[in-house]
This record gives sequence, structure tokens and C-alpha cells, in this order.
Amino acid sequence: MTTINQLWEKQLQLQNLLTLDTHIQLIANVINNSNPQNILDVGCAQGDLLEKLSQRFPQHHFVGIDLNEEFIIEAQRKNKKLIFIKSDINTFPKSTDKKFDCIIFRLVIQHLDNYQNLFNILKNICNPSCQIIVIDACDRYELFHPRIPLFESVLHQFRLHQGQESNTLQKLKTFIQSDKTAKIKIIQDINKPVSNLRNKNILYKVLMNSVRILKQYYSLDLNLNNLQCELEYWKNNISSEGTLGMLFLQFEFSKTD
Ligand SMILES: C[S@@+](CC[C@H](N)C(=O)[O-])C[C@H]1O[C@@H](n2cnc3c(N)ncnc32)[C@H](O)[C@@H]1O
Repeated sequence: MTTINQLWEKQLQLQNLLTLDTHIQLIANVINNSNPQNILDVGCAQGDLLEKLSQRFPQHHFVGIDLNEEFIIEAQRKNKKLIFIKSDINTFPKSTDKKFDCIIFRLVIQHLDNYQNLFNILKNICNPSCQIIVIDACDRYELFHPRIPLFESVLHQFRLHQGQESNTLQKLKTFIQSDKTAKIKIIQDINKPVSNLRNKNILYKVLMNSVRILKQYYSLDLNLNNLQCELEYWKNNISSEGTLGMLFLQFEFSKTD
């Protein structure tokens, strides 16, 4: 039987196949415009994003941190020239000599909830004009959402199970607007899907893998065979559509701070 760690790992790989190139391009535009020297990837997992960025920008310095020690060991094994540290961003050293010119959160903000603490930490590790990039799902429960009945009912079950605010970036933006002490300037807010569904075969695998995760990890009562039939029908139906709801936010702490 596939373990839950294997399912999560597969999920990350499949999602990267669908979205990584688009996200690299968006981040590369920021690097080309602001030329940051020290770049931090928070929740870097196995370092795939930093590996590609460092190939494109060999003169820049990259650091990745992640909670998960196994990911960090694997990232370091694959990329010996980059720095990977096992660390929780919520307790990342407040007084550190290391400051960054660009900090990336790709699919990580949805795992964090204490924004006040996060922003206090960010202020301590940002150089002036540090660009902060957040890429995440519009809705943490509906990263990929074909509008098909059984699949929608699974998402509904998941929402009831979690009972949390689902719109990750909206929650972050509300925090930014309400927190007058944060003094944040939004540079880019791309409020539409940044990737499209070119490859339905990969998407099908992502969706099947996610329902397996929901069954195994969150113990939802799901009939995998029925879901598989519905998703196969959706995959093979040329006119059926779905949306990949990813958002992109770039901001900096205002210079008067
Ligand atoms: C969905 S994965 C995204 C991985 C990677 N950024 C990517 O785009 O493929 C979320 C990652 O964030 C890490 N993570 C979650 N909470 C974290 C925290 N508080 N500090 C550091 N890493 C965290 C997890 O261990 C996991 O590797």
C-alpha cells in the first residue's frame, strides 16, 4: 500500500509538472526587474523550484528552508551548491545576520495562520526593498476544480471536515489591508489563474491522487471507483473544462517603515 508520504510526494511532483514552468517565469520576471542577490524559498520541499532558479540565475545566492527534514536532506543531496536548512518559518531566527532581497512562498501560505508573527519575522530578515512573492491556490480546497458532481461533493465534504477559511490569498490580503503597522506596498496582484489546463492527463492524475490523500490522510468516506469513472469521463470529454485557480501576489515593506 502506498504510504501517505509517497502520496504527498507524488502530488507535489504532479503539481510541478502542471505549474512549475509558469511560476518560474513569473518569479524570473521579478528577479530580472529587481536583481535580488539573496533569495529565500520558504517551504522549499525537495528544492525543485530553487534548482531551476539557480540554473537560470547562477550568480545569485539561494537558501531553502522547510519543516520536513527528509525533504531538506533530499534537496541538499540533489543540489550541493545551494543551502538548505530544516527550519520552521514561524520560529526562523529573529536576529540573524542573514538578510534577504527576495522571499518566495509557493503553496506554503495556506499552511500558515499566524500572519502577525510571520510578518514580524519577515521584517527582521528582509533587506530594504526585499520583494516578497506569494503563489498559492485561490481556494485551498479547490486548487484544481473541474465542475463535476462527485468531485464537487468530495470538496464539500472536505470543507465540512476542515471548517476553515478557504480563500488563502484573500485572507492574506485582508490582513495586509487591516494591519496599519505592517506598511506594505503591493507591487503585483495577479488575480486570475496563472496556469491553464493544457494537460488533462496530468490533471487527471493530480485529481485521483488528491482523492486518495483525502481518503487516506483525512479519512473521508469516498468511493474511489466511482470517482475514478467520473474523472475519466471528464478527462476524455473534449468539451469539459476546469480551472486552475492559482494566484500571485508580490509585495514589499514600504521604505518609510
Ligand atoms: C505544498 S508544499 C509546497 C512545496 C514547494 N514550495 C513547492 O512549491 O513545490 C508545502 C511545503 O511547506 C512546508 N511547510 C509547511 N509549513 C511550514 C513552516 N511553518 N515552515 C517551513 N516550511 C513549512 C511543508 O513541509 C511542505 O514541504
